[in-house]
This record gives sequence, structure tokens and C-alpha cells, in this order.
Amino acid sequence: MSIEYKAELKKIVLQVQLDKLEEQLNTLFKFISEKDLAGFFIDSIYLKNILSLLIDEHWMQSKNAPTDTEIQFDRFIKPFLNVELKPLLFLQSFFQDTSIGGLHLALKAITQTEAALLRNIKSKPYDFQKKFLQIALMQMSELFELEHQLNSDRKKTDVTARLSLYRTFDVLDKIFELGYLENEVPDIDQKERLYEGAGVGVQSSYATTLLALRYLNLTKGSRFIDLGSGYGRIGLVVGLMRPDIQFTGYEFVKERVDIANKASENLSMTQHVQFRTQDLASTDFKIPPADTFYIFDSFSDATYAVIMEQLQEMTLHRKITVVTKGNAKLWMKNQFWIEPQEFNDGNLCLYRSRARPRI
Ligand SMILES: C[S@@+](CC[C@H](N)C(=O)[O-])C[C@H]1O[C@@H](n2cnc3c(N)ncnc32)[C@H](O)[C@@H]1O
Repeated sequence: MSIEYKAELKKIVLQVQLDKLEEQLNTLFKFISEKDLAGFFIDSIYLKNILSLLIDEHWMQSKNAPTDTEIQFDRFIKPFLNVELKPLLFLQSFFQDTSIGGLHLALKAITQTEAALLRNIKSKPYDFQKKFLQIALMQMSELFELEHQLNSDRKKTDVTARLSLYRTFDVLDKIFELGYLENEVPDIDQKERLYEGAGVGVQSSYATTLLALRYLNLTKGSRFIDLGSGYGRIGLVVGLMRPDIQFTGYEFVKERVDIANKASENLSMTQHVQFRTQDLASTDFKIPPADTFYIFDSFSDATYAVIMEQLQEMTLHRKITVVTKGNAKLWMKNQFWIEPQEFNDGNLCLYRSRARPRI
């Protein structure tokens, strides 16, 4: 038997009964398929992001209009309908009728729902978790694409911009078991930027990773290298979405590599997703040939110079694509051997090597 999860989610927010929620969810979990569980998970997290955004929006509006005792729905929710709220249109009646108290209560219910969902998913075997993650990532990819369109099609509004700040799917790290360690960086003479204790901050967001994958349009069987792979988000997402790609991540901090490899092993992806402990600045290391390279703000100037030289040399023999996130783009500015292709507000950039005569 399959349960329509959207109807259940509607029940959860429309008739919040916090004391009965656990029981309600347990019944739902008994009959739900991987696909619906993924949909339920993604919608719940998206809803949590939206509720937080609306609650803050309400607060800001009431600050600007302190004499209004009642902030009307029309004033602050209506502009979201059909645009940011489109993926949650099945909850339209809730959004139309709710008060600020209703938003707070729904947020409480949805926060508990998220915790119960996580417990449920982690209680399942890894092959179930793998299928779940694959479906969830596909649905997230569509959501992020919608958001990307909203940002580029019309003049970015304040609200769309803010939504991307609220929207976070970092909770997926818990499913991957990416347990961040506070003191994992060895006590060495650090010339590199190793982001000690940064946890989530060390990594590209799932939105960035999925958007990059969408635009990269990777060729079947090609090789993908993450230079400075941190806890492995990029490789894990690539491995789940594109099991036909050979992925290698190189990372200075061994503990991060171990965590990433354990996640790859749990999800039976070690044949195509591997992480290696490596100082990329080391003179006895040469970056192996690959088709796509990902760089997120990783290195000291000296290391960047070594890496750029190696990538440039590689373009004498093959075409490559480089994806940069954050300030890594600054290093691509004066590289004559590569040209920019796509931009995402400058945060995510894509470069393809120029055609050059073979030697
Ligand atoms: C900002 S994180 C990016 C992680 C991952 N690529 C992502 O986008 O989610 C950069 C990583 O590069 C690593 N790193 C810095 N210098 C390095 C070096 N010389 N060799 C290998 N990794 C290095 C850091 O330890 C850090 O984990």
C-alpha cells in the first residue's frame, strides 16, 4: 500500500498535534516507498526553509509598520505564491489562512518531522539509503534549477535572494555520516588554508554541487577530480547522480579523506568514487589526467601556481573543464589557455580549455 505523502504533510501543518506527531509519522513510515519518502523529506526541508523565511519576513514587516496589529497575509505571503512557493502549492490553503502563530506552530511540527525522518532513514539498510539519496538529490536538483531560473530570469528580488540563504539541505550530511571533527588538522607548520573546525563551512553547498552537475553535462565514462575535496560532498553527489563517472578527490587532511571514503564505502561506490590523502603542493605529485576539475577556494598562492601550471600543461594533450567556486575564480583570470563559459553570480564558474595545437 502506498500513502500519498503530500496529503500527510498537509495534515501535519494544518492540524498540528505535536503530541500525536510521532505516532502519525510512524504509521506513515510503515507504508511509504523510497520515492515518496524522498519527496516527503525534500518537501519537509523546503517547507522548513520557507517557514523560517516567512517568519522573519513577518518580523521585518511588523518592524516597518509597528502600528499594524495584524500583518495581513496578502501583504507578505501572496508575493511568494506561484513563485518561491510553487513547489509547495499543495499547501496553498495553509499559506492563505495561516496566522503568524500558525507559521510558528507549523515550524515546530516540521522540525520534529525532520528529526523523525532522519531517524527513520538511518534505521534502514544502506542500499535503501542509497536509493533514497539518489531520488532526493534528483528532486533537489529540480528545486535548485527553479531557484536558479528565478534568480536569472527576472531581476533578482530581495526575497529570491534571501530564499537562497535560507535554503539549506545540509542535513543530508547526517545521512552521509559526514561527522565533522573539530581538531582534525594536524599540528604542522601550516602554509595552506585548511579551514580547521569549519565543518559545513568547508564544503560546497548541495545547491552549488547539483547546479554545477546540471551545467557540466558530463560525458559518460569521463574522469572528475576535486582538488581539495574536504569531507567529500562533491564526490558523493557525483557518485550517486552519475555512477558512470570516475571520481577522485585529493585532500590534505587525512581525517576528512577517511570520513569521505567511509561514506563512499557505505553506499557501495568505492569502484567509482575514491578519496586520497595528498598534499597537492608536494613536488613529487602530479595531477593525473582527467576531464573535469573542481576547485573551491582551497589553496595558498604557491599551491595555486603549481596547480595552474599542471592544468595548463594538461591542456596540451586534452580538453579539460575547470569549475571554480568562490575566490578560486581569481586564479583563472589571466590564464590564456582557458575561457569562461557559464557564470552563476560569479560564485560558480565554468571554464573550458581553448583548442590548442597538439605537440
Ligand atoms: C573549501 S574546501 C572545499 C571542499 C570541497 N572541494 C567542496 O567544495 O565541498 C578546500 C579543501 O582543500 C584542502 N586543501 C588545502 N590545501 C591543500 C593541499 N595543498 N592539498 C590538498 N588539499 C588541500 C583543505 O584541507 C580543504 O578541505
